[in-house]
Amino acid sequence: MTDAIAMKARTRSGFAAILTCVLAALAGLMFGLDIGVIAGATRFIQAEFEVSNRAIEWIVSSMMLGAAIGAAAAGWLSATLGRKRSLVFGAVLFVGGSLLCGLAWSPWMLAGARLVLGLAIGTATFTAPLYLAEVAPGRIRGAMISTYQLMITIGIFMAFLSDTALSYSGAWRWMLGIVALPGALFLLGVLGLPESPRWLLLRGRRDEAIAVLGRLREDTEEARREADDIARQLQSPQHGWQLFLRNANFRRSVGLGVLLQVMQQLTGINVVMYYAPRIFAGMGFGGSAQMWATAIVGLVNMLATFAAIGLVDRWGRRPILYLGFAVMAASLGTVGALMRTGTPTHGLQIAGVAALLVFIAGFAMSAGPMVWTLCSEVQPLRGRDFGIACSTFANWVINMAVGASFLSLLDGIGTARTFWLYAALNLVFVAFTRAWVPETRGVTLEQIERQLMSGRPLRMLGR
Ligand code: BGC
Repeated sequence: MTDAIAMKARTRSGFAAILTCVLAALAGLMFGLDIGVIAGATRFIQAEFEVSNRAIEWIVSSMMLGAAIGAAAAGWLSATLGRKRSLVFGAVLFVGGSLLCGLAWSPWMLAGARLVLGLAIGTATFTAPLYLAEVAPGRIRGAMISTYQLMITIGIFMAFLSDTALSYSGAWRWMLGIVALPGALFLLGVLGLPESPRWLLLRGRRDEAIAVLGRLREDTEEARREADDIARQLQSPQHGWQLFLRNANFRRSVGLGVLLQVMQQLTGINVVMYYAPRIFAGMGFGGSAQMWATAIVGLVNMLATFAAIGLVDRWGRRPILYLGFAVMAASLGTVGALMRTGTPTHGLQIAGVAALLVFIAGFAMSAGPMVWTLCSEVQPLRGRDFGIACSTFANWVINMAVGASFLSLLDGIGTARTFWLYAALNLVFVAFTRAWVPETRGVTLEQIERQLMSGRPLRMLGR
């Protein structure tokens, strides 16, 4: 009888933990939709407003600017309002921003609406992984945070598909506005989430924290133990910036988070996400073949992320990153070599697409999910908000730089050398991983923090 009750509690708490994480990961879906949706729309926006390429660049990149600002402000927001209310705030901005995009009557209004959307994404890309790391039980933490990345890729794929479908009628307002619908679902979902127990303890609301943990963990004893463990760590004050100035160990983890995001963006992933049709055109593909090949990129990105979810808590973070960077270096090197051969034969075209898809799969299985996972795991609780805000900010700034420099690189050093440059960077990142990236598989956040603060080298954390 007692066994039956215990089993029921276990199933209920397991289900609650997974449900909570899936809901928060919907933030990733919104992120992906908004990354993917603009690519197919720009042609029609340009035709309707009769604006220059320069204005289009502004319309595209205003979102990344908003996201950088949102990520910088989100640390403060989620510490003050709490994780849940930050997610709700982000969701409201999503809905509002998408509707404004669909209704925009001028190019500048559209750029402004995308800035609002960016603020939403910045807030969500900061808060969702933080929330996931704080509520997911240790044994499935890696997989739960990878779910967030999976949602990003599903969002990108859905946006590519919806753009393709709507492109026949040129309905760009629908392309952009329709995102308000999943946005509204996301809003409803996050309204139902419990607040993060860690944030509640941070605010001295112990009873509520234990109640939430009780619903998320297998038994009340486990919930109490976890609450005590967190409370012990919270005895010193929580000022990320002051901690950063005072504590060299914290500066190391902030530096690591920033480095991880810089590496993720410099793999070259968004060169493909934003410019895939152009790259396929360079390989000699015609209009509709470019669209289909781009949709396949979205599909492979999504499917390979499933693989990462299965592997992250079994293989660990470091082996997956090694493999990923090596695969990305080799495949981009191949793309570069194929682009150099000049007139494309059918065989070369197929080889080019295959190499690019291997690159996408390499990213989606490694740096995509692993970087977000590690960034939320390595920061000590006292400075976690600040640390993740710094790394997410770095993600958006480098994202913007990569997006804004690709075409100039093509013009300046040529297609082959541009791809070789990114291939070389990926090779360097194998060495960086060896030197600095820790293995956090199966280790509690509290253990990671203790080791970090005792001065253990970054790559030895978690051992
Ligand atoms: C990156 C994005 C990228 C996406 C592609 C994310 O992890 O942060 O910049 O567009 O993966 O799936």
